[in-house]
Amino acid sequence: MADRYGHWISGDYRPPVDGEYLEDATSPVNGAVVATIPRGSARDVDDAVKAAQAAQAGWARRAPAERGRILTAVGAAMLAKADEFIALEEAQTGKPSAVREVQAAAEYFTYYGSIVRAGHGETIDLGPDILAFTRREPYGVVAVITPWNGPLNQASRDVAPALAAGNAVVLKPSEFTSLTSLVLGEVAVAAGLPAGVLNVVTGLGPEVGAPLVEHPAVDKVAFTGSVATGRRIAATAAQRLIPVTLELGGKSANVVFADADLSRAATHVANGFTVNSGQICSAPTRLVVQREIHDELVDRVADVVGKLEIGRQIGPMITSDQFAKVQEYFSVAQDDKATLRLGGAVVSQPPFDAGRYVQPTIYTDVQPTMRIAQEEIFGPVLGVLAFSTEEEAISIANGTEYGLAASVWTRDSGRALRVAYELKAGQVSVNGALLGNEAPFGGFKSSGLGRVKGAEALLTYTQLKTVGISAT
Ligand code: NAI
Ligand code: MG
Repeated sequence: MADRYGHWISGDYRPPVDGEYLEDATSPVNGAVVATIPRGSARDVDDAVKAAQAAQAGWARRAPAERGRILTAVGAAMLAKADEFIALEEAQTGKPSAVREVQAAAEYFTYYGSIVRAGHGETIDLGPDILAFTRREPYGVVAVITPWNGPLNQASRDVAPALAAGNAVVLKPSEFTSLTSLVLGEVAVAAGLPAGVLNVVTGLGPEVGAPLVEHPAVDKVAFTGSVATGRRIAATAAQRLIPVTLELGGKSANVVFADADLSRAATHVANGFTVNSGQICSAPTRLVVQREIHDELVDRVADVVGKLEIGRQIGPMITSDQFAKVQEYFSVAQDDKATLRLGGAVVSQPPFDAGRYVQPTIYTDVQPTMRIAQEEIFGPVLGVLAFSTEEEAISIANGTEYGLAASVWTRDSGRALRVAYELKAGQVSVNGALLGNEAPFGGFKSSGLGRVKGAEALLTYTQLKTVGISAT
């Protein structure tokens, strides 16, 4: 584990032009400094974009099968180095385990490395005198900007399809969790990715992210993070008329009807809002439950959550801002007179008092208008809202500015379909269906623009060209 990193540009670690550094990620577990990373500037961004631009045409000229082979090799190399990635990811995020996230990150490269070979255009029949066809071409240089809650996974989710489609990438990871993204650049080049095709520039949002989006040679932006930053990036992109994919926040609902399998639903609800301590955009942080089973389901959920161990299943808040934000919402919930059922405070017993740990928390008697029912908290905090009719369930579930994901629990297949169709969310899971890398994911309403994952995401990194050839 190197102490001081450089930017990853053109196949090499490079010190920042201005010589400034940041203490990346004070450990969420004990506050220790994990590593030092460049505090980049517009000059480093310019170097990285130029490196990407220089490498892109050659990369795009390679046959999809060849790009695919290299990306598959990158996925394999990530798995071969999984222990290093896991250790770094756990050190900078404090996650109790990053094993599955690192495996899933590698799988994006394997998946897109495979499906890129199945890409094809269409012929358009304009009569015998013309051959007209479409082909999918890359945009050129793609900027990928990622947050701190699933760093390597979120980077891979955008980088793999962008590269598969023939683009070059400049990746700007979160200033709190840059390490695994830098190592990804290094591992990718060692596995055969040409230098300059993937570059990583670290630093602060306004100092590196903003100049990257503004750079005239950047042709598309893929962003994961907050709604506020997403809006700012979309406004800049609008000025330059370049496309953006935005994967933003959520306030996802688990809608549970009285006829559901309550034991499975309870486990799913309990794990759903506590995984990664709620620091997941799609975390189902609202339980929308039919009145007849309200008390029984809440008891069951509280039972499962009560058994989760701090430090083993429940990790810390990754940033100190996030730690403060979750505590603020504890007061907000109290002021709004929600009933505290479980948790509601930071973890004060040693050794966890040295870290940024909060107790998994459940509020009941939550009304749809309360702030804890409307705003993304991004912590292990569940709000329980009761309903009587199917119509009311749908209206509560749809009653926020967000629309990222939703879950429905019922044994009535007609109702399952009706509700799945009515929910305004980009991904709906019925009775706990798990949707993997193949399933497109993204937001309705303020939760975002465009889709990540699946074959759909690969298309978003291409632009369509139509060619017509006269036969006369
Ligand atoms: P953020 O959206 O500010 O940060 C995400 C990324 O954007 C980071 O790499 C950051 O450096 C970069 N960035 C910041 N300002 C930028 C700018 N002007 N131009 C270009 N890039 C910029 O998120 P933040 O402040 O860390 O978290 C705030 C809230 O956002 C959280 O409390 C949570 O509610 C939500 N969030 C949602 C995530 C998701 O997965 N959708 C991930 C992280 C946070
Ligand atoms: Mg911010």
